[in-house]
Amino acid sequence: MPNTDAHPPSRAPHNAVGSVDAWDAPTRIFHWLLVILVAAAWGSYQFSETLGDPVLKWHRWTGLLILTLLVWRLLWGFFGSSTSRFTNFVPSPNRLISYASALPSGTEPKYLGHNPLGTVMVLTLLTLLLTQATLGLFTVEHNDLTAGPLYRFLSEEGRKVATRWHRYLFETITLWLIGIHVVVNVFYAVFRREPLIKAMIVGRKPAIAYTDAVSLGTIGRPMLRAVLLLAASALIVFGGIWAVGGKFLQMRLW
Ligand code: HEM
Ligand code: HEM
Repeated sequence: MPNTDAHPPSRAPHNAVGSVDAWDAPTRIFHWLLVILVAAAWGSYQFSETLGDPVLKWHRWTGLLILTLLVWRLLWGFFGSSTSRFTNFVPSPNRLISYASALPSGTEPKYLGHNPLGTVMVLTLLTLLLTQATLGLFTVEHNDLTAGPLYRFLSEEGRKVATRWHRYLFETITLWLIGIHVVVNVFYAVFRREPLIKAMIVGRKPAIAYTDAVSLGTIGRPMLRAVLLLAASALIVFGGIWAVGGKFLQMRLW
């Protein structure tokens, strides 16, 4: 039992004094890998000339890796540990409203997994990045030097639309939301003394009473399961593109 006076969550496992498991290792690795790869995708486009990479080889490979990670996260939302499962964190409108209205007074309930507002942001970010990476498959570089592996499957007009949205979405919407996401997490750490960022690093949160109080210990061998799901995700993305005749090494268009 944890050495704490606070009410421990009813079913959360207590492996260390005063703290409980919140995020499994695969979810945390996913998050920080996603951060690195999104920065790499952005940087490899912005600095493609400095990198001597006019055909965006690095950008396209990082984009494909992001797509694979996102497919993995979708699967993990069904087969992963409890706090990562969509069924355990997608809130009802009532929960969302009551959480948001309690926030200004600091009386909001505490969540072991994503809180309802966090869930909205997380699902929005996942959807935007998934859309971004999928559009990338059909995007044509502005000098017609290179393109995503499936560009031939769209008409001239379709490619233009995909490329326009691929350009527009990230810098006009997603990047700003990522900024808000980071600021909000810092806000929770500084003004609410809720160590959400630390929990996304070490996987544990203080042992207090959590509204969602779901136990993490619901699946065995999470790393093995995660690796198998990663293999399945890679098969879906790379195998799928290959199966329909996509060209990964598309260097010159015509
Ligand atoms: C490219 C930048 C980033 C992206 C795309 C991103 C995306 C995400 C996503 C998709 C999740 C949900 C995790 C899951 O359930 O699988 C998440 C959660 C989280 N992220 Fe980020 N993130 C980014 C940067 C950061 C940074 C820099 C920080 C730290 C300052 C951070 C802190 C967190 C925290 C604490 C959570 C858990 C929030 C909660 O407890 O509800 N993120 N992020
Ligand atoms: C979530 C993953 C991705 C992100 C965040 C991302 C981000 C970006 C950004 C910011 C640009 C520059 C837009 C501009 O300002 O002109 C861009 C361009 C481009 N991306 Fe992606 N991308 C992703 C995935 C992909 C994928 C999977 C592919 C193809 C395999 C791809 C292919 C391209 C191409 C060909 C361009 C050049 C478009 C142009 O020159 O107008 N991207 N991407």
